[in-house]
Amino acid sequence: MCGIIAYLGKDNAVNRVTEGLKTLEYRGYDSAGLAYISKETIHTVKQVGPVDALVQKVNDLKLPKSNIALGHTRWATHGGITEQNSHPHVSDDGNIAVVHNGIIENYIQLKSDLESKGVTFKSATDTEVIPNLISQFKSENILKSVTEACKYLKGSYAFLAMSCDHPDTIVAAKNGSQPLVIGTVKDAVYISSDTPTLTSKCDKIYALEDAEFAVICPTSVKFHKFGKSIVKKPLAIMASVKPATKGIYNTFMEREIHEIPDVIEAIEREYCKRDLTKLVAKIHACDTIHIAACGTSYHAGLYIARMFERQGLRRVLVHVASELPHTNPIINPRDIAIVISQSGETADTLSAMKTFKNRGLYTIAICNVEGSSIWRYADTALPTVAGTEVAVASTKAYIAQTLVGEIVVNAIMEQPTNFVSYRKAAHEILGHSEEILKVVSENKDMNRIFFLGKGLSAITALESALKVKEITYRHCEGIAAGELKHGTLALVDSNTLSIILTPTDEAAAQKLNNSIHEVKSRGSHIWTVPPVESSLQIIYAQLFALHLAQKLSLDPDKPRNLAKSVTVE
Ligand code: AGP
Repeated sequence: MCGIIAYLGKDNAVNRVTEGLKTLEYRGYDSAGLAYISKETIHTVKQVGPVDALVQKVNDLKLPKSNIALGHTRWATHGGITEQNSHPHVSDDGNIAVVHNGIIENYIQLKSDLESKGVTFKSATDTEVIPNLISQFKSENILKSVTEACKYLKGSYAFLAMSCDHPDTIVAAKNGSQPLVIGTVKDAVYISSDTPTLTSKCDKIYALEDAEFAVICPTSVKFHKFGKSIVKKPLAIMASVKPATKGIYNTFMEREIHEIPDVIEAIEREYCKRDLTKLVAKIHACDTIHIAACGTSYHAGLYIARMFERQGLRRVLVHVASELPHTNPIINPRDIAIVISQSGETADTLSAMKTFKNRGLYTIAICNVEGSSIWRYADTALPTVAGTEVAVASTKAYIAQTLVGEIVVNAIMEQPTNFVSYRKAAHEILGHSEEILKVVSENKDMNRIFFLGKGLSAITALESALKVKEITYRHCEGIAAGELKHGTLALVDSNTLSIILTPTDEAAAQKLNNSIHEVKSRGSHIWTVPPVESSLQIIYAQLFALHLAQKLSLDPDKPRNLAKSVTVE
């Protein structure tokens, strides 16, 4: 989703920002832009399409050196995918430039008020009201202008503003679930909406929290809240995150699937040295465990819940995070909450987490990004140590999430986790890639694909279908096999591929045979995936989806319409 990067310091700011925009690409976007100040004037360069196209434009224009620049990758929400709608947006008087993530909910009213004062708007975005409002409160003190403007904004936002009257200052403002971090290094400051983009560059990183403002100069960062200056501690980041590369693979997704055995090893190393006693005691003392997450992380939540329940440990309710405000589940203070998120920035999950916290629940985050919002807000953060996941389709992070869940269950049961056999199984499945490619070649023209499972493999079926949908755009569903005859069977014909996810449980596998007969007798093609202990069976589906996307000449790393980090509700 939208990304922010800015630089203020001695280097060529435009170059630093274009480099930063490249590191934000994985989040998903459809246009990019930057603004810089030269000769007391704000200039912008914008481009629909990839950041490389923007870089080309910047190079062709041979821009003058500037020490201050704001950059943005836009994922369209309000207004189409056009250069006019791309950020940064500049006030009508040319004084203020803004990059913004989030949604200004009352922008229509604000726009009409500003228009009645003679302001002309150039875009269809909600963002453009921000620089124009700031400009209305123009004063010697740019922080004052920004804080005054914020009093009128409703919605969630993280934005940066710069003024041609203050070419050595950027003001940052935040409200709601949009992340913004400020990284300092000698004589320069970087600002980003993505913590991992700064860990390798900066000495100290500060996270802006709701209702906070920062006045950023090349050699100082001052924080303010409710009109008073505040002192903030830098984040305790354990390790710098290296920018991910494709290595020997053609796509990030392929690389990330092949990293799964290494992820299992990294988790083993991490959790061998972790003491989960306090966490286990918390779980022992609770009534119900609430899990909230979205997409793949939600499926990991279903999987973890099943593991808890299988051992008869606790009642577990799994919530689609975006539905939590609309379902009003019974929550009592003796419950605990687990939120699961790869990015640690998913707005719906963060919002669910805030609901749990407001209800007095102890919150545990299973999260892949250290220092992310979800990580910071949790009472306990359990790292998934899967390394940066760039491809939009989550693969290695899912395995990591389910494995961390299993480690917690095993800690409660006082039993070991079988890391060695999991790594072996992962390697073995990866070795079947060619066979899976053959299945794809034989079935690439099927109109619809069904994954059928039972017990734990019914959850794998849901996650498998999500993988296929998001990167191949084929109609695909994951079904608990017994449900087939209650409706979906009506869709099965000779243009259908049914993928059978054999469960490890013998009795379940036997029952699943009935469903195989049902689809076979309606002409469906069949592919049977063997049983696998643990969530690793998903690797078959991940490879299937990857190969199918490639067969269809689609880029699996950047599926249409989707973003890696979904920071709007
Ligand atoms: C996964 O393939 C999807 N891209 C998506 O469902 C994702 O899992 C979801 O948006 C949640 O993201 P999170 O784990 O970063 O919170």
